[in-house]
Amino acid sequence: MAATWSSIIGLILLLLPLAPSSSSYIMYRLGGNVFPIGRFFVEMKIGEPLMLYQLDIDTGSNVTWLECYHPVHGCHCSPGVNQLYRPALGNLRVECKDPFCDALHADLPDLPDTNPQCTREDPHQCHYKVEYVNGTSEGVLSNDTVSLAKGNRPMVFGCGYNQRPRNPSQEPNQKPVHGILGLGNGIVGFAAQLKKQQVITKNVIGHCLGYGRNRGGYLFIGDYKFPPNGITWAPMRKYEPFYSPGQATVHLDGQQIYANGMSAVFDSGATYTYMPSQIYNPLLAKVIDLLGDAGKPAKDDPTLPRCWKKPESIESLDDVKNTFKTLELRFGNNIVMKIPPIKYLILSDYNNLCLGILNGSDVDENQKIIIGDISMQDMLVVYDNERGMMGWANIPCTTSRL
Ligand SMILES: *[C@@H]1O[C@H](CO)[C@@H](O)[C@H](O)[C@H]1NC(C)=O
Ligand SMILES: *[C@@H]1O[C@H](CO)[C@@H](O)[C@H](O)[C@H]1NC(C)=O
Ligand SMILES: *[C@@H]1O[C@H](CO)[C@@H](O)[C@H](O)[C@H]1NC(C)=O
Ligand SMILES: *[C@@H]1O[C@H](CO)[C@@H](O)[C@H](O)[C@H]1NC(C)=O
Repeated sequence: MAATWSSIIGLILLLLPLAPSSSSYIMYRLGGNVFPIGRFFVEMKIGEPLMLYQLDIDTGSNVTWLECYHPVHGCHCSPGVNQLYRPALGNLRVECKDPFCDALHADLPDLPDTNPQCTREDPHQCHYKVEYVNGTSEGVLSNDTVSLAKGNRPMVFGCGYNQRPRNPSQEPNQKPVHGILGLGNGIVGFAAQLKKQQVITKNVIGHCLGYGRNRGGYLFIGDYKFPPNGITWAPMRKYEPFYSPGQATVHLDGQQIYANGMSAVFDSGATYTYMPSQIYNPLLAKVIDLLGDAGKPAKDDPTLPRCWKKPESIESLDDVKNTFKTLELRFGNNIVMKIPPIKYLILSDYNNLCLGILNGSDVDENQKIIIGDISMQDMLVVYDNERGMMGWANIPCTTSRL
């Protein structure tokens, strides 16, 4: 029966190659974890011949790019990257006057000096520069083949040939990857390009980041599978550079940490969660308070800025719920995101408990709460750019559910 149906569906797909089904999505399994890898990534085959690359999934930026050896400029690439993308000059001929190049510049923060307009010397390439909290990446656009579950497609993405870290880097170490998958809501975003090419019909992204060392998780582009227990939905703020349901107040153990709400953004490109110092300082004090005598600082642990010797009452990370308390982000209209202790603590290789909430004021002048991977583990997070809504649901992110 199943075989019969699949051959009929196959026939229909052959007859209607330009009309994909209305709930089409592409699903990727994710590699990585919060600790020790510090990223979640997809594997994608790109270029001619097709080569396998790992791309960090980043809902906090618009541009997809690879660490790239430019035929003329060579590469000042990130250390530790084992395989560079090597396009031909022909791939890099995305004209500076091409509407796609204008769209790219529109999707990047409006800093004219960092985003070169067309120059007379180089009118046949589209230059750009992206800023991250940890550094910058500079490159030119490339038009090359990307292998998708539904066949090979030409896609436009960055050949990043000049990566410069911000010194001194405030970010904990991450395993190197080959590039970034830009999942922001920009015109040149990966989902927007797939929609334009009618590979998917909706600009919707969903991710489920596995909890713990070996669990990976999955990413949807185009739609998502609905979890059985429903999703908490919130309208997304318009005209914001990041996906955000708006301002949130922060509560620990039922107590409000700081009087004012602050803008909270969901950013899968951040490994840890960041709070502005107005929240971070009293939050840290409250955590130390809750730890009481059990809280012996482990000052020699380089894993994260704040670590404590693991109290004897705690055997595995699952036991932390007795000592630590659930953190809550309260948005308007009774919309709440609960962050249990296992989603803000890690167990380091030195057997210490480290706080996975970092001082945002150290890395970023903008006063924002950044919800990073650690707090989105075992949670389906959906960014629905069609409806302008985002949502989340606590579910185990095991691939066996799919
Ligand atoms: C990329 O290449 C494809 C054909 O291979 C072409 O149809 C498309 O217009 C190109 N895109 C850009 C922005 O140059
Ligand atoms: C900054 O972070 C991005 C995303 O996690 C990563 O791919 C890149 O290598 C980092 N850049 C530097 C200069 O460390
Ligand atoms: C992504 O692109 C959109 C649309 O152009 C823009 O509003 C947003 O600020 C960009 N986000 C980032 C992080 O640059
Ligand atoms: C957080 O960072 C700010 C700015 O760097 C600093 O003034 C503050 O003392 C830091 N908080 C803690 C608890 O280290």
